[in-house]
Amino acid sequence: MERLSGKIVLVTGAAGAIGSAIADAVTEQGGVAITSDLADRGRLTHTLDVTSETDWLRVIAAIEASAGRLDGLVNAAGVVAIGNVEDTDFATWRRVMAINLDGTFLGCKYAMPLLRRTGGSIVNISSVSGLVGGHNLAAYNASKGGVRLLTKSVALHGARLKPPVRCNSVHPAFIEGPLVEGMIAQLRDPASARERMAAMVPLARFGTPAEVAALCVYLLADESAFVTGAELALDGGLTAQ
Ligand SMILES: NC(=O)c1ccc[n+]([C@@H]2O[C@H](COP(=O)([O-])OP(=O)(O)OC[C@H]3O[C@@H](n4cnc5c(N)ncnc54)[C@H](O)[C@@H]3O)[C@@H](O)[C@H]2O)c1
Repeated sequence: MERLSGKIVLVTGAAGAIGSAIADAVTEQGGVAITSDLADRGRLTHTLDVTSETDWLRVIAAIEASAGRLDGLVNAAGVVAIGNVEDTDFATWRRVMAINLDGTFLGCKYAMPLLRRTGGSIVNISSVSGLVGGHNLAAYNASKGGVRLLTKSVALHGARLKPPVRCNSVHPAFIEGPLVEGMIAQLRDPASARERMAAMVPLARFGTPAEVAALCVYLLADESAFVTGAELALDGGLTAQ
């Protein structure tokens, strides 16, 4: 059975490990994935820098002209920066906040007029770093914690609409892909860092993009119609400890 039959879903960061897995899963489940990412990132429906209001307005106008509605939005674009509060420079802080938090805000804001036409579902990809802190993740923690509570505000607004627009946040721990590899490369002793990170997870491994995509399919589908404002950890038990 196709769980997203006929649903039109915009995915940001769709050239990335998680975003591309989500776009593939939407298509596999009978939906239409509208893919977006920065320019030169491969075959995408739209170029969309999530920090740019102009880009959002252009892409939403194009979707309105071609489809007239939107059933789902997945805000998956994101970056990580390693650094504690003392060694994170202001430019890095601003860049991480701009992509992870401003980008998610702009997506929710500008997609809402299309989503509210027929009702819809927003999935914001936060992180376990939006639930618990890390000494060397000052900017990332702040941005992903912001996404967590922005999600709840959007959900409460969307619940007042008729038909409603739902909004939930997903909080993965280490997921296989370039983002985690880049993070490991910045750590002291990268060779043992992967092992140490996996050992922190009760299920003793990293997650996969397909596992994140499976949760997103559930949140985009009508089967989750009573789920909104929720924060779903996908972390092998990391934050249960
Ligand atoms: N990989 C993990 O372990 C992990 C864990 C928790 C949360 N996340 C979150 O999941 C999301 C996807 O991560 P991923 O692992 O696929 O990383 P990734 O690096 O593979 O993909 C991220 C994508 O975002 C895009 N991007 C960056 N800046 C952008 C901008 N300004 N506008 C549009 N696109 C932009 C990049 O081009 C890239 O394609 C991110 O929000 C990340 O914070 C990842």
